[in-house]
Amino acid sequence: MLVRPTRIEDVPLLLALERSAAQAFRQLPHLAWLADSDVMEQAEHLAFVSEGCSWVAVDDQDQALGFLCASVADDALHIHELSVRQEAQGQGLGRRLLDQARDAARLKGLAWLTLTTFDGVPWNAPFYQRYGFERLAARQLDQRLQAIICGELAHGLSDRCAMRLGIPCRPR
Ligand SMILES: CC(C)(COP(=O)(O)OP(=O)(O)OC[C@H]1O[C@@H](n2cnc3c(N)ncnc32)[C@H](O)[C@@H]1OP(=O)(O)O)[C@@H](O)C(=O)NCCC(=O)NCCS
Repeated sequence: MLVRPTRIEDVPLLLALERSAAQAFRQLPHLAWLADSDVMEQAEHLAFVSEGCSWVAVDDQDQALGFLCASVADDALHIHELSVRQEAQGQGLGRRLLDQARDAARLKGLAWLTLTTFDGVPWNAPFYQRYGFERLAARQLDQRLQAIICGELAHGLSDRCAMRLGIPCRPR
């Protein structure tokens, strides 16, 4: 399994990939609606690709099984979305994509990886916490993360939390 930068020709596949990943939420009655909700648009993916902050985990046919897209915000690389096809979940692809994002943040000289996610979903905040992310309390949120959480609430997403992972400086 290889992680490589997303190419423009991968983008149409990523819509179905994200929909497949979201089927995981069917296990949770209160969030099952997410399995049928909108996924990212192609234009959004293309913006992350052109920023050089989108990566795919591919199989031996070079088909995307997972993607992570992010953007630079202040002193952080903020993860916008991480999705792995339902049948490929639990095999370490999510972690490999996080490794890629962490390496990219380090190369860019950024201090943090940040994201927002569901606090109580077993494969969301607890997964990121095991990877090394810390949950941020409300008083620790900067304006940017506060605005993201508020926007998510306005879109019907509750039980959200913001998390961050410190990126050690590159040795000189
Ligand atoms: C979250 C996600 C990207 C992780 O990708 P992945 O390839 O499955 O991740 P990995 O195989 O590297 O690790 C999965 C971890 O989650 C745990 N996990 C997976 N499914 C789980 C479940 N249903 N219940 C509990 N834990 C679960 C695994 O045990 C593993 O634990 P570990 O950290 O101790 O190794 C993937 O599950 C996914 O696409 N989920 C649906 C979309 C989503 O929630 N995206 C995140 C948005 S913030």
